Amino acid sequence: MSAAILLQIAGLTMRFGGLVAVADLDLDVRAGEILGVIGPNGAGKSTTFNMLAGALAPTAGTLAFDGESLLGLPTHAFAARGIMRTFQHNKPFNSMSVRENIMVGMHTRIGHSLWRVLAGTSRAVQTERDAAQRADALVEFVGLGEWRDADVSTLSFGQGRLLEIARGLAAEPRLMMFDEPAAGLTSAECDRLSEIIRQIAQRGIAVLLIEHDMRFLMALADRVAVLDFGRKIAQGTPAEVRANAAVVAAYLGDLGAIGSANTVKGAAGGA
Ligand SMILES: Nc1ncnc2c1ncn2[C@@H]1O[C@H](COP(=O)(O)OP(=O)(O)OP(=O)(O)O)[C@@H](O)[C@H]1O
Ligand SMILES: [Mg+2]
Repeated sequence: MSAAILLQIAGLTMRFGGLVAVADLDLDVRAGEILGVIGPNGAGKSTTFNMLAGALAPTAGTLAFDGESLLGLPTHAFAARGIMRTFQHNKPFNSMSVRENIMVGMHTRIGHSLWRVLAGTSRAVQTERDAAQRADALVEFVGLGEWRDADVSTLSFGQGRLLEIARGLAAEPRLMMFDEPAAGLTSAECDRLSEIIRQIAQRGIAVLLIEHDMRFLMALADRVAVLDFGRKIAQGTPAEVRANAAVVAAYLGDLGAIGSANTVKGAAGGA
């Protein structure tokens, strides 16, 4: 049947003063699945990701990754366990090539220091060679092969997004979170991104995907969770969610926004 639960979220709550941004959220995420998270602006989607990445400590609730609690751990411990997210704004290291940027992503996880490389110990040299080979494979994977040695400052916005993904993958994540990855991309870039995310999941990585572009999200997601005012109001396959009355109401009847079957006939759904 389905893969084991990788991330188990129960009763997750985040309060900012009087505002409840995320309220009593229960959600299971499995290895190799693409779980879409949708909801109107301010629904609590990014706040949820912030808690899952260890950037915000929840007000209440539990988070278990591979059966182990994440509560109280520092942010770097979330990354060390393989929880990764891409940011809305790309933050590459300028004056470095595409390939070097990806290798930096590895070094933070391997934790090997510059002096070891300089000292030229055989293990360090070997590690460096392995890292270079893996970086090359990742450059190819995201389709930036031709730009491998280019300075990152010369990349387009969309290429920067692909680099960000390659850097995330360099750390060998088990869970990857994408917060509006299609924003600002051309339709050709969206198609490529969609294929990359699909392949990431096929490698057994759990994918959490926030996206306002419903065509993009509904075609990719195995399951979708819908947040509204911090609460999960629906969960199911894309087709189930599109047909859900509470979801339609949350979008104020804007059926086009969720690609409702009423407006998008025969839309790709994935059962
Ligand atoms: N650090 C913070 N301090 C106070 N309020 C916050 C903070 N972060 C988020 N909020 C509030 O929490 C609510 C949820 O915000 P969040 O960014 O999670 O929404 P979202 O679903 O990601 O929305 P969008 O689709 O617009 O990105 C909003 O009302 C927001 O203003
Ligand atoms: Mg957001």
